[in-house]
Amino acid sequence: MSHINDWVIKQRRYLHQHPELSHQEYKTKAYIEKQLNELGIPTHSLTGKDVIGTIKGEKRGKTVAIRSDMDALPIQEETGLSFASSNANVMHACGHDGHMAILLGVARNLIKMTNEIAGTILLVFQHAEEELPGGANELVTHNLLDGVEAMFGYHLWQPIPSGIIGVREGATMAGADKFNITIKGKGGHGSMPQDTIDPTLIISSVIMQLQSIVSRSLATNDEAVVSIGELHSGSNYNIIPDTAFASGTVRYFNLNTSQEIEKRMNAIIDGICSAYGATYKLDYQHGDPPLFNNPKLTSFIEKHAQDNVGINQVKRIDGIMGSEDFAHYSHKIPSSYIFLGIGKEDAPYGHHHPKFDINEDMLAVGVKLFTESLLDYMKEGHK
Ligand code: NI
Repeated sequence: MSHINDWVIKQRRYLHQHPELSHQEYKTKAYIEKQLNELGIPTHSLTGKDVIGTIKGEKRGKTVAIRSDMDALPIQEETGLSFASSNANVMHACGHDGHMAILLGVARNLIKMTNEIAGTILLVFQHAEEELPGGANELVTHNLLDGVEAMFGYHLWQPIPSGIIGVREGATMAGADKFNITIKGKGGHGSMPQDTIDPTLIISSVIMQLQSIVSRSLATNDEAVVSIGELHSGSNYNIIPDTAFASGTVRYFNLNTSQEIEKRMNAIIDGICSAYGATYKLDYQHGDPPLFNNPKLTSFIEKHAQDNVGINQVKRIDGIMGSEDFAHYSHKIPSSYIFLGIGKEDAPYGHHHPKFDINEDMLAVGVKLFTESLLDYMKEGHK
């Protein structure tokens, strides 16, 4: 196996050096197509940005899919690696280079084992995971999942120590919504507030009260987050402005919770604005839903992970408040998404940091785990 691991690392480094932003992964797409075609794996694309490789077993059977994302981030790399990004302000700072390399390794193994495969394996190289609207939803809309029985996914994960595989059943990554609040008051001189409707005061009150939604309106075991990330009001120290603006994010593990938070948000803003005589606009955008891991499929992959790295190296993890557009697949068909730990004490930089790097040892773990899991899943008569 060792030469395949070298090949996988080579793939990762090439992809790391040539990152592309979401919805612009055209060279990445061409590169992946070339690699798969050279292995003898036919490819097609549903959106012109993704690559779907197809491995047909020698026996008939079900269809399963496994997904890697492909996009990089608008970050100027600061790792100093010899294969650092050659594109200014674009960097694989989330590990998607490693995800692609793992899936190429799995492809290279499985194409030699078609006599052991009953059915079809779709290798899904998906564009635009990092942006809304993302690639997963687009592929679902383009009928990627028609006839597909199950879907696997994975992320190299810095918060988990290297060598450990994290799994979870049920809601595993949060749903993520975005909102913009604009308060319209009436501006005037800072010395004569009685003639104004001060939107800065009003939005301050709104921000404070929004924090009551999670603490007072949701059940204590219904985990959620409401965070304001942006706030703008006014332009000069003695002028009360006409409008104030804030934007933020909402995270949750139940779809109903998202509806409830939006409803409460409207009620709070409406109540405060009417008390002060201001008007408002709340633009609430529902984003990726929570990622739901099918229990049966997750036990299946967990068992293989235990065989692969040892029972003590596989951990049940808490839900993660980050979001992931793989969630769209998980709402359509049984899916399982797991985490390959890459955390190291001497590499403390998290995902999306300009010094983020992966532990390449975990690439081989991912390749072996998914080669064996898929092979087992595609065995004739597997239930
Ligand atoms: Ni990512």
